[in-house]
Amino acid sequence: LDNGLGLTPPMGWNNYNHFPGKLNEKLIGQTANAMVSTGLAALGYEYINLDDCWAELNRDSQGNLVPNATIFPSGMKALAGYIHSKGLKIGIYGDAGTLTCARTMPGSLGYEEQDANTFASWGIDYLKYDNCHNNGTSPQERYTKMSKALLATGRPIFFSLCEWGQAYPATWAGSVGNSWRTTGDIKDNWGSMISKADQNDAWASYAGPGGWNDPDMLEVGNGNMSTEDYRCHFSLWSLAKAPLILGCDIRSMDNDTFELVSNKEVIAVNQDELGIQGKKVKKTGDLEVWSGPLSGNRVAVVLMNRGLSTANVTAEWSDIGLNSSVIFDARDLWEHSTTTSVQNQLDATLDSHACKMYVLTPH
Ligand code: GLA
Ligand code: GLA
Repeated sequence: LDNGLGLTPPMGWNNYNHFPGKLNEKLIGQTANAMVSTGLAALGYEYINLDDCWAELNRDSQGNLVPNATIFPSGMKALAGYIHSKGLKIGIYGDAGTLTCARTMPGSLGYEEQDANTFASWGIDYLKYDNCHNNGTSPQERYTKMSKALLATGRPIFFSLCEWGQAYPATWAGSVGNSWRTTGDIKDNWGSMISKADQNDAWASYAGPGGWNDPDMLEVGNGNMSTEDYRCHFSLWSLAKAPLILGCDIRSMDNDTFELVSNKEVIAVNQDELGIQGKKVKKTGDLEVWSGPLSGNRVAVVLMNRGLSTANVTAEWSDIGLNSSVIFDARDLWEHSTTTSVQNQLDATLDSHACKMYVLTPH
């Protein structure tokens, strides 16, 4: 969407993966504080996003959405002001139907302009717009209505479509939103994570600056996968130019989690100015190579072992679209080491669910 936003994939946090339906002002304020004090804000994580369940079930007598005063006693304008005072941005959640998915608050169907104006008046910077209780009507119509309403407010608001990929939003949402879900909801397990990566991969050619495929938010740090699983998760999301929306409790991240989500070189792949989504380019049983171009004639590569036993994974230059005579320096983004003058191929011995991530620069 040509609203000046999302020229690189959005980075931030959302409560849903760790605290579904458990919002409150204190959690949001403390999360904003942690974003800054941990150094994540300085690395580019800027959005603090509220998911479902922030409002009362009923609109007020003028038809306005009403924040739940028990959990947001200071109101949304004050909360937005606090988040902005930390140098961050605030996202909110709505639904292109009559009720949100958790059924605790109204959707915006038929109230698009009024709700967009409300969000803008509070200083909201990002809207995640879900798809429950939509009476079976066309998502294109419903999402386009909200897109226009947001533009009409005059406030730049990142528009994140949460349509779950059902009506193939990649094919039409480029002019409607800044990102669009290509999948159902991610769960904190390997099978779910990897299937979202695969489903999202099918739409790679539609992504670019201003509009991104969204395989759903990160589960890194939520505890049900191993560090190596999460390393693959973060590597694949970064390579695929997915939104990097953290979903763990960043107030109490362990060292492994922090090391994964704060890797500057991996983040730089995600935020590369070309904005070309990396893709799966080779699959030999459980062994995969994912790759995509970066600015400066560089190439990003992920080697992955999806299987259960240790194996050797190889990416030949021809697998990743390179002329076999070109010599590269290979930076290992997780080891933080460089091998100079690499010829013909990269290869690595990888344990079950392990990943390597490299940037190749012409030598
Ligand atoms: C849907 C969305 C999720 C989350 C929940 C909230 O399932 O896909 O990302 O927003 O609703 O109820
Ligand atoms: C179903 C659920 C929604 C959401 C989507 C995502 O439609 O009702 O809440 O989780 O799946 O796949």
